[in-house]
Amino acid sequence: MMDAPTCEVRRPVQLDLLSEVLHSYSAERNGRVSNGVLYEQVASRAGIDPSEFSKKTPVGDAQQPHSLLARKVRWHQQTLKHAGILERIDGERGVWQLTQPAGKDLNRIGPNVAVVGFSTDLGVAILGACETVFSAIDSPITLCLTSPPYPLAKARNYGNPSEAAYVDWVCQQLEPIVKNLVRGGSIALNISNDVFLPGMPARSLYRERLILALHDRLGLFKMDEFPWHNPSKPPGPVRYASIDRTQLNVSWEPVYWLTNDPRAVRSDNRRVLREHTERHLRLMQNGGEQRDQVFSDGAYRVHPGRFGNQTDGKIPRNLLTYGHSCSDQRAYKRAARAAGLPAHGAPMPLALASFLIEFLSEPGDLIVDPFGGSFTTAKAAERLGRRWLSSECMLEYVLGGATRFYDALGFRQNLLLAA
Ligand SMILES: C[S@@+](CC[C@H](N)C(=O)[O-])C[C@H]1O[C@@H](n2cnc3c(N)ncnc32)[C@H](O)[C@@H]1O
Repeated sequence: MMDAPTCEVRRPVQLDLLSEVLHSYSAERNGRVSNGVLYEQVASRAGIDPSEFSKKTPVGDAQQPHSLLARKVRWHQQTLKHAGILERIDGERGVWQLTQPAGKDLNRIGPNVAVVGFSTDLGVAILGACETVFSAIDSPITLCLTSPPYPLAKARNYGNPSEAAYVDWVCQQLEPIVKNLVRGGSIALNISNDVFLPGMPARSLYRERLILALHDRLGLFKMDEFPWHNPSKPPGPVRYASIDRTQLNVSWEPVYWLTNDPRAVRSDNRRVLREHTERHLRLMQNGGEQRDQVFSDGAYRVHPGRFGNQTDGKIPRNLLTYGHSCSDQRAYKRAARAAGLPAHGAPMPLALASFLIEFLSEPGDLIVDPFGGSFTTAKAAERLGRRWLSSECMLEYVLGGATRFYDALGFRQNLLLAA
C-alpha cells in the first residue's frame, strides 16, 4: 500500500481546483486530455481568465519564471496519479488519462492500488477496491457490516455486477474477510430483494443461491434474515405495482446475519434492549400475570407471576424499522455537496448500522465494511467506540465520507488537500 501526502486538519477539505481537474478528465469520453486543453477546461470550469495560466512568477533559488496556476494543476495531477486515478500516456508528451473512467461525477481507483483516504484514532478509510485492500490485511475481524452494490438491471452510477455473476462476485469479495473473522464473528449483509426475472413480475432467487453459496463455499451459517422495514422507501417496482398492478409496493430489504460459528457467536441482545412499555412496567410492578391460561392449542401459556421479573428492557424483535433518511445522512449530503462532491445515493441509516454493531460486537472490536459508500458503518463504529476499517473504490465518495469525521478524535485527512 502506498502513502499519500498527509496533513493534519480539522476543517473542510479545500478542493481548490481538484474537482475542476478531475471533471476535465471525466467529461471526455475516453478520459484522456492534454495539458493545454486541461488548463483551458480548468479555467472555464473555475471561471478563471485563461490568460492567468500564462502569467509567470520567479520561483526558487534560480528564480525561474513559472506559472503558479499551472503548477497547482500539475500538483493535483501528481496526487491523482499516486491515488491510482490518473496515468500519463506513454510516448505522448503532456497527455494524461483516467485509469478507469467510471461515470460523470465519479472516479474509480485503478486495480492493485490502495491509499489511505482519512483516518481517526479508531479507524481507517481506504481508497481502494476491497479485493485489493482486504487480501492485504491480517487482523481479527469481529463484524463485517456491508451493503455491496445490488445486481440491478439499471446500474447506479457506481456500477454493479450482473445478477448472473453476483453470487461468485460476492463470495470472492467476502472470502478474505471471512478468513480473518474471529470465532463467532458475524457478517451482516444488506442486499436487495427487488431483482426481477427479465420481463416478469417474479423475483430472482439470487439471494437464496447466495446464502447457500456462502454456507457451502465459505462455511458461514445463517443466523437470521432481518427484514429492514423502511417506511420511507419510494413506491416500486413501478412497472409491476403501479402499471401492471400484479405486485405490491415494496417496503423492506433483507439484512442477512451470518456467522462462522453459531455456538460461539458474539451477539448479545442485552446490548440493544429497548425501553419497556408503560404497560409492561406496570405488569412487572404488580408481580406479573394474574391469569392462568393456555393459548394456541397449548403452544403458549401464561401463568400467575409470568413477566413479573424485573428486567432491564425489552428484547427487540427481529423486524428492523428505520426510515432511510436521517439527520446524520442529511448533514453528510449537505457537506458533500458544499465541497463540490456527489452525495452517495444509497446510504444506510446510521441508526440501523448502529443497532447491528451494538448487537453483534463489543467496544474495541474491529468492524469492517468493504463497500464503504458514504462510510455509514465506519461512522456508527466510531460513535460506538469500535475500531473500523472501510474501503471504497470511488475517490469522490471517500472525500465526501471524510466530511462525517471532522470532529472524530485524531482525524487526519490524507488524500487530496490543496497545494
Ligand atoms: C450500496 S453502496 C454502499 C452504501 C453504504 N452502505 C452507505 O451507507 O453509504 C456500495 C458501494 O460500494 C462501492 N464499490 C463497488 N465495488 C467496490 C469494490 N470492488 N471495492 C470497494 N468499493 C466498491 C461503490 O462505489 C458504492 O459506493
